[in-house]
Amino acid sequence: MTGDCGPVGYVHGYSPTEATRLADQAGTLAELLHHDTHYLAGSRVLEAGCGVGAQTVQLLARSPQAHFTCIDREPSSLAAARAAVAALAGAPPVTFVEADLRDLPFPPASFDHAFVCFVLEHLARPEEALRSLMRMVRPDGTVTVIEGDHGSTFFHPHSDKAHRTIGCLVQAQARSGGDANIGRRLYPLLTSVGLRDVRVSPRFVYADSSRPRWVDGFTNKTFIAMVEGAREVSLRLGLIREEEWAEGIADLRRAALDDGTFCYTFFKATARVP
Ligand SMILES: C[S@@+](CC[C@H](N)C(=O)[O-])C[C@H]1O[C@@H](n2cnc3c(N)ncnc32)[C@H](O)[C@@H]1O
Repeated sequence: MTGDCGPVGYVHGYSPTEATRLADQAGTLAELLHHDTHYLAGSRVLEAGCGVGAQTVQLLARSPQAHFTCIDREPSSLAAARAAVAALAGAPPVTFVEADLRDLPFPPASFDHAFVCFVLEHLARPEEALRSLMRMVRPDGTVTVIEGDHGSTFFHPHSDKAHRTIGCLVQAQARSGGDANIGRRLYPLLTSVGLRDVRVSPRFVYADSSRPRWVDGFTNKTFIAMVEGAREVSLRLGLIREEEWAEGIADLRRAALDDGTFCYTFFKATARVP
């Protein structure tokens, strides 16, 4: 399914490898992104673009008494999300709905909160998506948005080839209408659609060999795995030659060795619906 991604398609795709990457990413980043994500007992939370449920599982762990409704446009991801939640202790009752987040099948103001993670970066018109989510949330309810920003990536040893390889993913995403550097834009984006009390907090990832959980979970299994996942689209679009791409990945892997370091920044925004 390509949705508004045009002929380039959804850059990450829906392979089992990508499902594993999403779970590794959510597990590794759980504390960094969610130590302050709590929804009260009985509150109604809409998670838009839940994918395979990797964030859903983390949200449930921190807000076990909230009522979650999770939507995604990809049926195979929803099935995986359903299975992931069913496997949790007590199989919490989550409602899963196949839907496009720009055209949601719920009455206005049916939720107290909306949550969206790593989704706006893929949309040609993120303002439209935010307005759609705002309509679903009651006045004074909250909207939380978490996004990355691939332009925030730096590492040691530096490598222009590695940056070119990352740049292929950024360009492919741009050709599909998205913005892989959207994190830095969250404040103006959320403000422009009329959300109030917008607060953005950067969440910095730093990995070196004294933090093996971060090297394995983030540098290797989240970030490099994501760039590697864009190999086919990068070559298909003629963004890079195959050997050059492989050299870039090899250089990126240097940052995960004992004398390497890796840095990246996520952005988490919270706001209120007027
Ligand atoms: C990178 S994944 C993130 C999944 C999950 N939020 C996470 O962080 O693990 C992006 C998800 O957004 C979904 N998505 C993209 N555009 C969408 C749209 N217009 N409506 C609903 N889902 C959408 C994709 O199908 C995909 O599952």
